[in-house]
Amino acid sequence: MYYSDETIAEVISRNDIADVVGMYVHLTKKGANYWGLCPFHGEKTASFSVNTNKQMFYCFGCHKGGSVITFLMEYENIPFQEAVKELAERGGVQLPEVRETEEDVRNRNFIQRLFDVNKLAAEYFFKAAKTERGKLAINYFKKRGLSDETILHWGLGYSQPFSDDLYKFLKSKGYNDDFLKDTGLVTISERGATDKFWNRAMFPIMDERDRVIAFGGRVMGEGEPKYLNSPETKVFDKGFNLYGLNYARHSGKNFFLLCEGYMDVISLHQAGFTNAVASLGTALTDRNALKLSKYVKDVYLTYDSDGAGTKASLRAIPILEARGITVKVVNMQPHKDPDEFIKALGAEEYQKRIDNAESSFFFELRIKASGFNMEEPKEKNDFYEYVAGRMLDISNELERSTYEEAFAKRYKVDLKKFHELVIEKARREGPRKPAYGTDTDAERFPKKKFENAAEKKMDDKILQPQRLLLTCLSDDPGLYARISGVVDPSEFTEGLYRKVAELAYGFCKDSGSVNPARIVSCFEEKEDQEKVGAIFQTDLPGEVNDAERAKAIEDTVRKIKLNSVEEKINSAIEAEDGQLVNELLKTQTALKNRKNLLS
Ligand code: UTP
Ligand code: MN
Repeated sequence: MYYSDETIAEVISRNDIADVVGMYVHLTKKGANYWGLCPFHGEKTASFSVNTNKQMFYCFGCHKGGSVITFLMEYENIPFQEAVKELAERGGVQLPEVRETEEDVRNRNFIQRLFDVNKLAAEYFFKAAKTERGKLAINYFKKRGLSDETILHWGLGYSQPFSDDLYKFLKSKGYNDDFLKDTGLVTISERGATDKFWNRAMFPIMDERDRVIAFGGRVMGEGEPKYLNSPETKVFDKGFNLYGLNYARHSGKNFFLLCEGYMDVISLHQAGFTNAVASLGTALTDRNALKLSKYVKDVYLTYDSDGAGTKASLRAIPILEARGITVKVVNMQPHKDPDEFIKALGAEEYQKRIDNAESSFFFELRIKASGFNMEEPKEKNDFYEYVAGRMLDISNELERSTYEEAFAKRYKVDLKKFHELVIEKARREGPRKPAYGTDTDAERFPKKKFENAAEKKMDDKILQPQRLLLTCLSDDPGLYARISGVVDPSEFTEGLYRKVAELAYGFCKDSGSVNPARIVSCFEEKEDQEKVGAIFQTDLPGEVNDAERAKAIEDTVRKIKLNSVEEKINSAIEAEDGQLVNELLKTQTALKNRKNLLS
């Protein structure tokens, strides 16, 4: 951990969570809490709450929760350290000097200078478009239907038709050759320096936090290559960054439109589809998919409608699905890409195409079907066999039967017979591994809190009491005196819960109260912070009076202790330690018989 507990506590106390969240989410006070629309999942009624007593947020829809630090990490998609830094600045907290190695410092400075020089270059290209010669680019953008506002929004510019105009400019700003050779903006050789881009319409590429990291330059007219892109640098990773993500992430939509090119993204945004993004001049990568999955769980592919585009879609679908994303495909026939579609038919028609987008499953089947001659009985049968096989990839039975029905209807096949074919194929080939990653899905989008009934039962029995006790302790620190000698943190059976119990007990002992936000901030990983955040959201059901409350706490403590003993018994059985088993069984009986655990 970089910063001390005290520093983190100071940062939290100087940044009221309602104030900070309020900068991003419109909050309304209702009862003790503030409520708003959750920024982490699409919703129409507010299930996102901010509790100022606990200094925590929690969404009852997607179950994300945590401290003000968690919120910023999640919203800005930044690591812990950076979130603390931002909040420290906001709250006027002086952060202690972090001890970095010389190399760390060099690296950090270098990266900062890369951001600086790219920003400077972007301003330079943008200004160049305002010059007499720059009209070439402005006219080009205009010819392609872009408004002044759009040109400004995307910082579009122009590179002069001289070989070292930008180079000279950057030199005049004090950058030396040794640094410039690593920026991707110029090439430096024995014969001198040359700009990478000349006489092109310039598209600055921004990362998701609005920092310019590279450029794409298009020939204005015919010429090769059509687009020239910055090479990869320390800040530009083609397989990771997505064009338009800096805007799309704030679009308020719960899905993204994924397209192929810069112009597609820009046209879509101009037409109001501000959730469009594109991968950068390379095929979609797994890391792109991972990045997308941090923001949305649905992606609509709107790749070119030619053969290459279809192939690219077929390639992208499994990559996205492996990251738990549900994919649909937008049909833009008879037009080539979203840019041309919108120009020809307009935004309203495009919206209809979104509404009618085809699920990836039926898209794949349709493409596959075109390879079979349905007039030939044998080929038709082969096709059905293939489809039956694909059905087996769907592990969820209910989902599979929905797909079977839809397939039968669409392809005019007898449902009963087709189902029999699926069953027979299953018998012949045995069960398949599920093709779609349901487990990662549950982790990343905890909307479905539990995968199955067994998991829920386990949670109800074992974890729920532990959560409840921790919430009660944070609501009423006076409880500490009563439970501390009775139930020990070591009796919290799950690793993360145990750690939280230790921290909560520690805070009670040292300062007489539990601050959930501070406990959350003892964990650096966002996933852990969210789990810890959820722990403190476990209230007693409904209104309870004092006696009922006392009874509930008593029961809860007993459950925790009994579960812990049960777990120990199981381990002792596994270790074949008969004597220990006997002792533990005695403890168990005593626990069950003892009337009042708490005084
Ligand atoms: P396309 O060739 O489909 O072009 O390239 P486009 O997006 O329709 O471009 P316009 O409408 O003619 O201007 C799709 C994407 O592939 C990358 C670019 O990122 C482009 O946006 N590309 C294409 C290159 O990097 N270099 C090229 O030479 C061509
Ligand atoms: Mn195009």
